[in-house]
Amino acid sequence: MTIAYLNGSWQPIEKTSVPVLDKGFMFGDGVYEVIPVYQAKPFAVEKHLARLSKSLGAMRIAAPMSEEDWIQLFIAGISKARVKEAIIYVQITRGVVDFRSHVYGNSDPTVLITVAPRSSATAKPEFSLVVKEDFRWSRGYIKTISLAANTLVRNEAIAEGYDDAILIRNGIVTEASSSNVFIVKDGEIATPLANNYLLHGVTRSLVLDLSKQEGIPIKERDIYLEELSEADEVWITATTIEIQPVHRINDQIVGNGKDGPLFKKIYRSFRELVCQSV
Ligand code: PDD
Repeated sequence: MTIAYLNGSWQPIEKTSVPVLDKGFMFGDGVYEVIPVYQAKPFAVEKHLARLSKSLGAMRIAAPMSEEDWIQLFIAGISKARVKEAIIYVQITRGVVDFRSHVYGNSDPTVLITVAPRSSATAKPEFSLVVKEDFRWSRGYIKTISLAANTLVRNEAIAEGYDDAILIRNGIVTEASSSNVFIVKDGEIATPLANNYLLHGVTRSLVLDLSKQEGIPIKERDIYLEELSEADEVWITATTIEIQPVHRINDQIVGNGKDGPLFKKIYRSFRELVCQSV
């Protein structure tokens, strides 16, 4: 069962609604966070809450509650939904106003938390990306609910027969429509720098830590479009998919078209980390 917390009370998601004058509905003016639940415990919750606080600050939305209060609500939600493996979505908008205006005014943030069951993420056996221009705004580090550009490129990619789009800005890889990108060449892993143009993924930062612990060389650096066709491995990472190997980009096979050895190694370490933390 998916349950929802809206501004102070828990209810089934089908019964949950917000007024049309909510700035989230009118302007996409809000931020969100996605937290995985393993064995009935929120995973990497401090990192997710730190990013939530950064996103709220960047959008000038007052933090509606403390980190401790968020964690208490997540724990309550997991127990109410009676789930072990789940995804928590937290969405905070600027709130409801009296009339539509671009000016902020005084509104209390709308706070929505949903807890939805999910089965464990498993990597897809044949995963493809198509290269597209990154035409999004330059504040991609904010986890805003304004996702129209991301959903547009994802759905264009699907319509063209791919699973997702990999985005390029000025010849340099930024990210995929809802995940970060890693490449492997000659035993070295690389991922784009965490700059303004992309979301600083929690899974990305965990993969960086795990690679360092494993003694695998890893660099945060610019990745040029041409490097994609020469890479031995390409992966994407996100909370919902964990680590997904990419087998084809445009009409070209990545590496030998199979899950690569460094993917397998890092994925094993990732699963171990999850098991140790719950
Ligand atoms: N998306 N980049 C973008 C644009 C994303 O939307 C996401 C996550 C990521 C990966 O971040 P993380 O590892 O912290 O999940 C990168 C989430 C899962 C979503 O929108 O549902």
